Amino acid sequence: MEILKIKGGKPLEGKVKAAGAKNAVTKLLVASLLSDKRCVFYNVPDIAEVEVTVELCREIGSEVQWDRNAGVLEIITKELKSSYVPQRFSGSNRIPILMIGALLGRTDEDIIVPTAGGCKIGKRPVDFHITALEKLGATIEFREMRKEGAYFARAHEGMKGAVITLPFPSVGATENTILAAVRAKGTTVIKNAAIEPEIVDLILFLQKLGVTIGMDVDRTIRIQQTHQFQEIEHVVITDRIEAASLGLAGISTKGRVFVEGAQHAHMITFLNRLREVNAGFEVKKDGIEFFYKGPLKGGIHIETDVHPGFMTDWQQPFVVLLSQAHGASVVHETVYENRFGYTETLRLMGADIEAFTQCLGGKECRFSSQNFQHSIVVKGPTPLQSKDIVIPDLRAGFAYVLAALLAPDVSNISGVHYLDRGYEKLVEKLSSIGAEVTREKTSDSILKPLVKALAG
Ligand code: EPZ
Repeated sequence: MEILKIKGGKPLEGKVKAAGAKNAVTKLLVASLLSDKRCVFYNVPDIAEVEVTVELCREIGSEVQWDRNAGVLEIITKELKSSYVPQRFSGSNRIPILMIGALLGRTDEDIIVPTAGGCKIGKRPVDFHITALEKLGATIEFREMRKEGAYFARAHEGMKGAVITLPFPSVGATENTILAAVRAKGTTVIKNAAIEPEIVDLILFLQKLGVTIGMDVDRTIRIQQTHQFQEIEHVVITDRIEAASLGLAGISTKGRVFVEGAQHAHMITFLNRLREVNAGFEVKKDGIEFFYKGPLKGGIHIETDVHPGFMTDWQQPFVVLLSQAHGASVVHETVYENRFGYTETLRLMGADIEAFTQCLGGKECRFSSQNFQHSIVVKGPTPLQSKDIVIPDLRAGFAYVLAALLAPDVSNISGVHYLDRGYEKLVEKLSSIGAEVTREKTSDSILKPLVKALAG
């Protein structure tokens, strides 16, 4: 088993480059399966989620060349070899379910995909995906298969455009519906669609590919059926979650970090929150510099939301920052019902955080009467103590790394594979801005009891 060893207590200073966005590139690779033409992607991050997605695409017939150092990936899927996504991809990430939308119009065979995985941060059902795809003419059944579940999808009668109103602007359901709509007869209209920058990147990619696709002002996306595709090149947008995470590392350690590639337009809400807590930032021509400029002010209220709201994936490292700010702040999570489990470990490290089932702050959210601990109050500033930590999911993982960077002694962090999913060369990047961090192999006998105790 591998662990990160972090000795904190030092300000981080310097320049670091944010990678391409995990939540854009993985979907773009799946979208490339719609066509039989070559697509070349630039700014592709060297992360495990891309590895898994590439493996998935190869499984169904894609030829892929990936120069990891250059961040360039070429993919072409002249013919589908298979439309069966093997069970080993079950629970791996959220990508297999998107294969249904991408492949429905490309094959008459059943498309078989295992149940969706991803970080355990709530129930994460796929009912919106299924309902929307059925409305476009697909038949989707869930069957037991080798003791696990799989979705069997087909559209033997062909697909037909429809007006689909999503119950919630789900990122994945919007993507799946867009993908299926490209091959569905006529025009498809998605109302209450997600409009995250990663979705816009998908729209831009599809437009280049040959699809007539556009967005109205009111979360409506229109897609026309497309038969002919073009070879294209596409530069993946920068990861706004990684950019924010690295920026927060600079501010909370009382340092100064320039995040090259951070895109202003995608981080407006985040930057406003930084201003409210008296954190410094300066938008430069090729990135954003984040810095500590004096005591941080708490007493703020954050509500996570769909774009253009405050991202649910910025919430975890921001909570660590709030633990260093003067006063009590409220964070209300409205996207996922169960995304504060990680705060327990921060409490053990010395943070003053209390969780509530009520919607604290302004608005009542979908989880108001469901008894989930989805609001917290963070009181600061509190010094954090180093600890041995087990990471439960990707974004909580970075929050723990950040907490460890603030604590003066050595923290041992296990569950590093979660970080590998979404943060490119994390150890190298943090070391380059002055962090004392190493990745080491540890014998299981030392870590297993700890993992067991924390899991229990
Ligand atoms: C994407 O997940 C991202 N993952 C998440 O990133 C991100 O947190 C999330 O969007 C919100 O921005 C990827 O892009 C791979 P959703 P997704 O469908 O598409 C409910 C990270 O760490 N819902 O917008 O799965 C759902 O349970 C992560 O990078 C249904 O009820 O998110 C959730 O409460 C984790 N039924 C809410 O909607 C459905 O059919 C938003 O989910 C679909 C969703």
